[in-house]
Amino acid sequence: MALMLKNARVIDPQVGLDEVCDILVRDGRIVEVGHNLTMEKGVERDLSGKVLVPGLVDIHVHLREPGGEQKEDIASGTRAAAHGGFTAVCAMPNTAPVIDNAMGVEYVKAVAAAKGKARVYVAGACSQGLKGETLSEMGDMVAHGASAFTDDGKGIQDAGMMRRVMDYASQFNRVVMVHAQDNGLVGDGQVNEGVASTRLGMLGWPAEGEEIEIARDIALCRLTGCPLHVQHVTTARGLDLVRAAKAEGLPVTCEVTPHHMFLTEDAITDEYQTCFKVNPPLRTAEDAAALVAGVADGTVDCIVTDHAPHTDWEKDREFELAPFGMTGLETSLGLVLTHLVNEGVIDFNRMVELMAVNPRQLMRDEPVKIEAGCVADFTVIDPKASWTVEAHDFYSRANNSGFIGARLVGRATDTYVGGYATMEDGVVVE
Ligand code: DOR
Ligand code: ZN
Repeated sequence: MALMLKNARVIDPQVGLDEVCDILVRDGRIVEVGHNLTMEKGVERDLSGKVLVPGLVDIHVHLREPGGEQKEDIASGTRAAAHGGFTAVCAMPNTAPVIDNAMGVEYVKAVAAAKGKARVYVAGACSQGLKGETLSEMGDMVAHGASAFTDDGKGIQDAGMMRRVMDYASQFNRVVMVHAQDNGLVGDGQVNEGVASTRLGMLGWPAEGEEIEIARDIALCRLTGCPLHVQHVTTARGLDLVRAAKAEGLPVTCEVTPHHMFLTEDAITDEYQTCFKVNPPLRTAEDAAALVAGVADGTVDCIVTDHAPHTDWEKDREFELAPFGMTGLETSLGLVLTHLVNEGVIDFNRMVELMAVNPRQLMRDEPVKIEAGCVADFTVIDPKASWTVEAHDFYSRANNSGFIGARLVGRATDTYVGGYATMEDGVVVE
């Protein structure tokens, strides 16, 4: 099938492109990029006033299938992804059962191929059952298509075990992604330790509980040579550790989430809103500002959501009993456009690096460039769309966003995966 996308402002830093032009697609790949292109037969769309970029990728998403389908499943989660402007996501392995062997990888891939509205990269667990004790079947998982490894949701407590994970993983050309959490320090911590924990009278989750593990894993990266990706960095000092590791030339990358950049511990009031209960916790305004600075100066490699759907009845409990996590797929792009691009903190080029180019590289996938021969995965953005985040608009099965009611400017209107529309004019294509 042929597809002609006309008159969008096409932005791709990989090929130095930023101009209004046309894109012709056939059989899932770009045939031509240019001006006044014509086509004999096919689907034509006029995208005047829109911005078109390489398809956005979110490499930290909990799709919850298998085992957590009451919260989300691959069908609903990838619809939320398409609706948020993403053409691919990486599914975390903390499902039930845990994705720690080839069968699990094949299951997620098969369901995604049958029911998905976005490409799904599968992250395999580092340790069996996420217990941090015994290595998972990494080689087998890679052979069956695993794109990365992580025990996300849990920190690997034992340094020797983490060394074995990294030693073993380094032979597969896959990144080890870490959820940095020292259980001895974090314990049952609920919110950032300091003003928030004191004000709210709850156990604290100290910044050091994250920073000590980041420092340890950077040391193990130096020891093993295994590429290390630090997930959801939340503190200024944690980011400084990554900055120093990069300056040293180590293969260290990191990600931040919109909620850790645009919300702080101050959001949690004496109403104890469980939608703000996330792991790692919302930190101080100074930490949030440091993350934004890291996004601007190049220290941060990716913006991810840590989309963590939960049911209303799980979240509608006492703060200590509610699970950690908030959704993010359908608010991430709008938040980034509103608070970073529109504010002049970053430009569209940098946004594309953070949300498309670098994530794809970390998944070890081929680049998607806006040039002939490349895969036709695109995100089309209306940069002027003014909208309010409302739960009833979500395609996700879950409502536990911390941004309900937020006024945003800019959102995705269309997404294309392999030349096929997965969202058109804001509606997911069935
Ligand atoms: O807030 C979080 N929720 N952080 C994690 O690391 C895991 C996630 C989940 O699975 O709900
Ligand atoms: Zn995590």
